[in-house]
Amino acid sequence: MTIAFVTSSTHRPYDPDLPLLEAAAAERGTVGEVVVWDDPQVDWSAYDAVVVRSCWDYIARRKEFLAWAATVPRLHNPLDVLSWNTDKAYLRQLQDAGVPIIETLWDVTVGDDLGDHDEWVVKPTISSGSKDTARWSSREEAWAHSAELVAAGRTSMTQPYISSVDEEGETAMLYFAGTFSHAIRKGPLLQRGEGVRQDRDSREEITPRTPTSQQREVSDHVMETVMSLLGLDQAPLYARVDLVTAADGAPILIELELAEPSLFLPQSGGGAGRLVDAVLERAGA
Ligand SMILES: Nc1ncnc2c1ncn2[C@@H]1O[C@H](COP(=O)(O)OP(=O)(O)O)[C@@H](O)[C@H]1O
Ligand SMILES: [Mg+2]
Repeated sequence: MTIAFVTSSTHRPYDPDLPLLEAAAAERGTVGEVVVWDDPQVDWSAYDAVVVRSCWDYIARRKEFLAWAATVPRLHNPLDVLSWNTDKAYLRQLQDAGVPIIETLWDVTVGDDLGDHDEWVVKPTISSGSKDTARWSSREEAWAHSAELVAAGRTSMTQPYISSVDEEGETAMLYFAGTFSHAIRKGPLLQRGEGVRQDRDSREEITPRTPTSQQREVSDHVMETVMSLLGLDQAPLYARVDLVTAADGAPILIELELAEPSLFLPQSGGGAGRLVDAVLERAGA
């Protein structure tokens, strides 16, 4: 068996999951090769499984990335999942299907009612690593940021800043082949008064976390909902459900990552092995 773990040429050195996946594959007598998605030399049909990992340069090249994905056999997660999940507009569908998400206004323009909050977050629907995302303390700044995104042809989201994130951070719940693997705490990323920054690193402050039963209920519900929404007959090979805590204490969804999530394998207690086992099982090994 040969498994491709797919990255981008720029991000390969910054993905700490890759060496652990290579090692876990080797331990199982399988070849795990790290491969760059836009490398024209690669014969994708040569792999028993192609697992998308840190293709983080797709943000500015989403069409090209999805066109590539359409050509790759035995791709995880599959094209339709990648396509659906790389635009946070999917949150609307999850909300309509009963998943609790952060209250979100779409494509806010100057003068719109932003509700009675102290702070807001404005972000584009196609983004990762909190790019083009900022935390604002005034309506005027939130309006201007959203209007700027819309003027650039993007879809914008405006949300109240969830204040629990400052102390509690967010909780990322990892699932491999539909089975819960591990959870971590991710520290807060947006500083007050900082504005838009393109250089935040969400992997700086990661620690293992034991999720509450309420968090498990919500993340399991997210996983079931996505399967029925997308008509999947199999759970995605990898999934990350990111939760924050609302003012009333309830876990709510900030983001569902089915395309290229960091899996936080160094903090996972054996997660790389669990993922490789899931890949091998799916590949019929
Ligand atoms: N409404 C919000 N309240 C508090 N923090 C937020 C909110 N939205 C985003 N953030 C912060 O910004 C980060 C990036 O936002 P997120 O929605 O996860 O998009 P992405 O990770 O794709 O850039 C989050 O990890 C979190 O720290
Ligand atoms: Mg995120």
